[in-house]
Amino acid sequence: MSGYGSVKNVGPNAQDHFTTTQARLKQIQSQLDTAVRSGKLKNKVCIITGVGSLKGIGRTSAILFAHEGAKHLYLLDYDPTNLENLKSTIESKYPDVKVTVQQADAADEAAIKGVCEQALREEGRLDVFFANAGIASRDTLQNTTAETFMNSMRVNALSCFLAVKHASVAMLKVNPSRGKDTSRGSIILTASVAGLRSGAGTVDYSASKAAVNSIAQTSTYQLQKTDIRVNSICPGLIETGMTGPTFEYARERGTESRIGQLNPMGRYAVPEEIANAALFLASDDSSYVNGQNFAVDGGVLQWFRFTLPELDHRLVTLKKVHKNWTRVIQMFTKLQDEKAVRDAAAAAAVGALIRRTESTSPNKLQSPSTPR
Ligand SMILES: NC(=O)c1ccc[n+]([C@@H]2O[C@H](COP(=O)([O-])OP(=O)(O)OC[C@H]3O[C@@H](n4cnc5c(N)ncnc54)[C@H](O)[C@@H]3O)[C@@H](O)[C@H]2O)c1
Repeated sequence: MSGYGSVKNVGPNAQDHFTTTQARLKQIQSQLDTAVRSGKLKNKVCIITGVGSLKGIGRTSAILFAHEGAKHLYLLDYDPTNLENLKSTIESKYPDVKVTVQQADAADEAAIKGVCEQALREEGRLDVFFANAGIASRDTLQNTTAETFMNSMRVNALSCFLAVKHASVAMLKVNPSRGKDTSRGSIILTASVAGLRSGAGTVDYSASKAAVNSIAQTSTYQLQKTDIRVNSICPGLIETGMTGPTFEYARERGTESRIGQLNPMGRYAVPEEIANAALFLASDDSSYVNGQNFAVDGGVLQWFRFTLPELDHRLVTLKKVHKNWTRVIQMFTKLQDEKAVRDAAAAAAVGALIRRTESTSPNKLQSPSTPR
């Protein structure tokens, strides 16, 4: 068997992996049932947008934030259908948490300014703004209208800009009588791996999420020395309302076990895994994390860390340095085969071998470009 073949076969077979994955996701989704309330968000006043979807990241985060003792949650969605259900779900399980739900467009400046001011008026402080509302688009490049493009930018990017603009004004306010002696706060934006790399979304969606990542990076400069942190989360593939049709389609065709197989973890994720990242960024656990585009993607971005020309150059160099690299060269030959190129396992295996070799022979190898 070639080196490529043996690497491909590492790990459980597809059916075993699928069974393990299902059990693991179930366990992750039931963690809150038994988790201790550790008060990571005690006394914090939080706003979250995009909470309306029953299987969404926003709703899951709202429940987690309540579990962690948030004082008052202001929860917004432009679709009011499930807002009352969310409010009663939280209030019945966590009676100590105040919940205000609002039908509002996250890209409407008056609405976002209004809810920030409301939090200040009612609670005297604002600690967390999780700008999570978003939409996906499906059209191919040539079928994407200017209107569709601008709508993606409006809902996905403008909403985040408005969150930073108005939440930061509220977070600058000091109110010792409410336990806030200095300006402080955490603004979290939901971007996407599509905003970091191509190939994970339409052009308009990806451009809007790249804008979100830029907003997270650049607003920190304007907010320097305020202790107001801005970060974005870049989820990989998560099963939510947004991606639901893809999952349903695969289940109908009996190909569910193949979803996420091009990810190093060999699986997709559930909203709880993004909510946990949002909790980290919202809490004081991340007090020195600022201006980051935080990929929560199972490692899929690292998987494609090397482009093929980069791999090519590195392997040619390796060949000169290491006489016994037939295994790697065999793998690379496979990788150049069109079919194998589509198999991310080969790319990852070669990448890992190169990285390992480079770390043991750092002086002998030089890359033509810095890996991203
Ligand atoms: N699901 C994924 O695989 C994935 C991957 C990367 C990024 N994301 C991002 O995660 C965020 C949450 O999406 P999700 O996956 O939970 O999808 P979802 O569709 O389940 O939830 C999105 C929510 O946002 C709301 N919304 C849409 N436009 C709005 C607006 N203008 N104002 C207020 N609310 C609005 C929707 O009504 C919905 O309740 C989005 O920003 C999305 O782009 C999702």
